[in-house]
Amino acid sequence: MGEQALAAIILAAGQGTRMRSDLHKVLHPIAGQPMLHHLLASFDAVGAAEQVVVVGARREQVEASVAGRGVRIAHQAEQLGTAHAALQAKDALAGFDGIAIVCFGDTPFLKPETIRRLADRLLAEDAPRVAVLGFVPDDAKAYGRIIARLDGTISKMVEFKDASKQERAVKLCNSGVTAVRASDLWGLLERVGNNNAAGEYYLPDIVMLAIKDHDSAVVVETDADELIGINSRAELAEAERIWQAQRRAQAMADGATLIAPETVWFAFDTVIGRDVLIESNVVFGPGVSVADGATIHAFSHIAGATIGEGCAVGPFARLRPGARLEQGAKVGNFVEMKNAVLGVGAKASHLTYLGDATVGANANIGAGTITCNYDGYFKYQTVIGEGAFIGSNSALIAPVTIGRDAIVAAGSAVSRDVADGEMRMVRAEQLVKPGWADRFHDTMKKRKADRAKP
Ligand code: UD1
Ligand code: MG
Repeated sequence: MGEQALAAIILAAGQGTRMRSDLHKVLHPIAGQPMLHHLLASFDAVGAAEQVVVVGARREQVEASVAGRGVRIAHQAEQLGTAHAALQAKDALAGFDGIAIVCFGDTPFLKPETIRRLADRLLAEDAPRVAVLGFVPDDAKAYGRIIARLDGTISKMVEFKDASKQERAVKLCNSGVTAVRASDLWGLLERVGNNNAAGEYYLPDIVMLAIKDHDSAVVVETDADELIGINSRAELAEAERIWQAQRRAQAMADGATLIAPETVWFAFDTVIGRDVLIESNVVFGPGVSVADGATIHAFSHIAGATIGEGCAVGPFARLRPGARLEQGAKVGNFVEMKNAVLGVGAKASHLTYLGDATVGANANIGAGTITCNYDGYFKYQTVIGEGAFIGSNSALIAPVTIGRDAIVAAGSAVSRDVADGEMRMVRAEQLVKPGWADRFHDTMKKRKADRAKP
């Protein structure tokens, strides 16, 4: 079992009205990734041969979002119901003869192992014709109900609107996720009618048709958290909460210490090593990896960054895309990095901006150093050699290269290259006036006292 080719049919033609958004519902992000892509990633993980997304309005947004992923788009001009929507994938799947999994774009947490389990159920000895994923939520709301026997065979699928009082009391709900052989699916869908309370073509009706044909249909159960559907911003926030809670637990299970887990926000692709320490209020945007033994201090915001073994970041650090810290490098408070590499053991401990820069191993970047990388039109590179020492409050005006072991004196504005081993000081000569301040104070105090006299 398990090696049947799979195709995903993801329904996403609904209006998503309750989001009150100009963005297609399935493109709203969870953990920094459109919900649709969470689902596509699960189908990637089971090696699905085909992925079709059925869209209605805002088709172009979905198309742009999945461009280059080999996902096919099918169009449902009018929203006549879930069976009608699934049928729109027929042309896109012409020639596919494995198992089709129909699911909903706004139910993004479906796991790869569940998809596989549902598909495999069709291959069991009793060879059911349809397998439906069911769940028992805390609140069964208006979900469609599954009336099943103890052995999991289904006797009836009924939409809430059409259900009797007794049927509504059933707790087993339809998630919508349905597995059917492609060779069977189109014929079943074409037979579905719309004679029901909503006047819609119901996908669950294919179960009733299979039963009518004296075939069996079965339910496979899974956890309700996996089937949370998103229809509003409040449900989106709830989905984020559930996702984050699971990811935090995973990070800790994998050997990271989170001092205040509920204040750490991961992205869908964050990679965290062993013995990483993450303090409170840390936010990870997409594209971050943190190697073993690194420490992320409180209130750091990190996106698109690669943090090497044993590095220290923050508190209050901002690492933007292209930031790379090599082993043991350190970024301290109020340091921002963008498209910049901090070499092995190099340090930028305080109040610094490193943009479009490479910093060699063991270099020390003093407090308040700024790489001036932008002239309002173009960006320029700063290259700092190994072991260089940049004095505090220096402006490095790119393009500029600071040599190996060079020293830039504090307060310098360096606009020309500094050679290896050179010391560069770019600041005004000092004016030295011994005793001047004492004389000034004496004079001024006397003047003030004279003025105060009547
Ligand atoms: C559906 C199921 C219900 C199940 C519930 C689980 C049907 C008839 N009902 O109800 O049994 O308990 O999901 O959440 O299948 N869509 C289209 N085109 C359409 C209609 C819907 O693409 O013409 C898409 C929607 O964008 C959405 C999905 O199908 O992603 C489900 O549609 P929705 O209207 O939310 O169905 P429910 O009434 O929730
Ligand atoms: Mg729904």
